[in-house]
Amino acid sequence: MYGVKISGLGKAVPRLEVSNEDIAAFIDTSDEWIESRTGIKSRHISTGETTTELASRAAQQALEDSGLSACEIDLVIVATVTPDYTMPSTACCVAKNLGIKNATCFDLAAACSGFIYASEVAVSLIHQGSYKHALVIGAEVLSKTVDWTDRNTCVLFADGAGAAIYVRTDQNKIIKILTASDGDGSELITLPNLSGPSKFNTIQNPQKYMQMEGREVYKFATTAVPENIQDVLADTGYTPQDIDLFILHQANARIMDSVAKKLDVDNKKFFKNLQKYGNTSAASIPMALADAKEYLKPGDKLILSGFGAGLTWGSMFIIWE
Ligand code: ACO
Repeated sequence: MYGVKISGLGKAVPRLEVSNEDIAAFIDTSDEWIESRTGIKSRHISTGETTTELASRAAQQALEDSGLSACEIDLVIVATVTPDYTMPSTACCVAKNLGIKNATCFDLAAACSGFIYASEVAVSLIHQGSYKHALVIGAEVLSKTVDWTDRNTCVLFADGAGAAIYVRTDQNKIIKILTASDGDGSELITLPNLSGPSKFNTIQNPQKYMQMEGREVYKFATTAVPENIQDVLADTGYTPQDIDLFILHQANARIMDSVAKKLDVDNKKFFKNLQKYGNTSAASIPMALADAKEYLKPGDKLILSGFGAGLTWGSMFIIWE
């Protein structure tokens, strides 16, 4: 089995920053409610930037950070639930923008766990020797999927992209990845695919926007995530107390505090950038990792953990290099 490590990171957000006060100007909410319930203060919202554009900008940065050239990338996976097109894949469009030729390119949908799922696929394929240099991106323009009159969702979700490059190496640094799902919770977060009616089928889905049972998702996240983190560390010889930094999906600061408490870990070890970016679904973990990079030292032990629609969840245990 070949070893794998991360060799480059990148991040991109739309230009427009929208504060809680900006949202409270057109909907019945307040900065106080949003910040105290979620930890979010501000977010970036597309005024035209596409998922492909954000993904390409993050990927270009990750490529420069890794020192690789575009022609060395042989696998591109984009985790997204908000592609610009169902076909071609966002991954093929990113490959075109970056000048990546002949790579295997595809998109993967696992909502807010998307980056962990895509990383598991890429890392496994490098471990087994099929590829050498994989570009894994989480990219979303969720602002086009939320009902901007629904205060339950529109204050939470936002736009952005994060990218990581995984490369083959002698010393393995991606120690373990563990993903899971529970389809019984599939109705808790839904986003319909709005293809039009056909000549033979005039039934239209009455749901147009994203819907979420926030309280139920909160209960699921605060139960499944600490268990999954314990499980990913099982048999590695490490405990949650040995971990230097936890990077969770940036959905809610209270979820992170609850997970910290359940794992008996200081919540200062849980990296947070959701105050600036909100919940960017598949993009949130690689964006947070890109922001956390300046604080990381070689040998640091990291847990990355995602959870979201599906229901899906998953964690990765990494040694930083
Ligand atoms: N402003 C003001 N009041 C609001 C707002 C708002 N933006 N949104 C809801 N409220 C009101 C509700 O109407 C409710 O009022 P009521 O008591 O009169 O009925 C009250 O606030 C409490 O609502 P709750 O939904 O119980 O609020 P809660 O404390 O649970 O916070 C939240 C809601 C932030 C959504 C929380 O449940 C949460 O974070 N859930 C998890 C979300 C998540 O992790 N998603 C990840 C996956 S996303 C994906 O996969 C795409």
